[in-house]
Amino acid sequence: MTTPQPGIARPVPDASRYLTFRVDERAEVGAALAALAGEVGDDLVVGFGASLVDAHGGEVPGLRELPALPGAKVAVPTTPAALWCWLRGVDRGALLLRGRAIERLLSPAFVLDDATEGFRHGSGRDLSGYEDGTENPKGEALVEATYAVGAPGIAGSSFVAVQRWHHDLARFGRLDPMAQDRAIGRRRADNVELEDAPPSAHVKRTAQESFDPQAFVLRRSMPWSDGRGHGLVFVAFGRSFDAFEAQLRRMVGIEDGIVDALFDFTRPATGSFFWCPPLRDGRLDLRVLGL
Ligand code: HEM
Repeated sequence: MTTPQPGIARPVPDASRYLTFRVDERAEVGAALAALAGEVGDDLVVGFGASLVDAHGGEVPGLRELPALPGAKVAVPTTPAALWCWLRGVDRGALLLRGRAIERLLSPAFVLDDATEGFRHGSGRDLSGYEDGTENPKGEALVEATYAVGAPGIAGSSFVAVQRWHHDLARFGRLDPMAQDRAIGRRRADNVELEDAPPSAHVKRTAQESFDPQAFVLRRSMPWSDGRGHGLVFVAFGRSFDAFEAQLRRMVGIEDGIVDALFDFTRPATGSFFWCPPLRDGRLDLRVLGL
């Protein structure tokens, strides 16, 4: 039986560890992915970059790298990676040790490029204090928005956009509370949407029904923090990358010159696209890679 990776639709966990890898020994990649195939479950979601799929002669319609965005009024970096592992759990120590075990399993084919720890803040808030994830699709709408349809090996897979945003909370803190609410377009106190939010408000920029076609994604973002700073690991799953890209294009002012007010206090430092294969009988279904 083919199913999506179960960790995608699960609620955001208490703690996460996000690992990105590059390929080191190409000849070993097949064996490493075959070993990884049995590890995926509620506590591990994995995604493959376009470079990895291409190198194996795989055909995944719609898989690409996050493109450069001509006409963008703010910088949105593209930082491709071969492999993404999202470890989900409760205990940071357990996640670190699981991450090390996965590193060993993937060696020498893959080398770790980055590890970033995510954590839950209160009831699922961004570090700015705003509730994140409210307008996520649920039930049938979640299935429709999140999982690809297509040939065996593609059906039930998902496409994920991942960006590590760095917040300047001091800058955000200098705005008065009403200006902060207007930047997001919701009231921090009760999460109610502001009727008179300006067009630059984040939820006005990204209102999913306002796109043609409608642009729904499943967001599973979490705050992060380490020596490099702090912010949000933005994670959005979709049946393709199109909905995410449509939202991002509007956020950066390509449509109407108006930049999302989020950019007043936060910037993405990374941006990568990955394809999350489905499971077949409980293991990653790697048939599109010929594995
Ligand atoms: C640091 C970066 C970001 C922060 C702090 C942030 C925060 C938020 C918050 C607080 C909400 C309102 C509650 C909710 O519905 O979840 C929201 C909504 C939303 N955000 Fe973001 N977000 C960020 C980046 C992005 C990016 C990069 C995208 C897509 C390109 C995006 C897409 C959306 C969408 C689709 C909604 C729901 C809009 C609707 O249909 O009402 N967000 N975000």
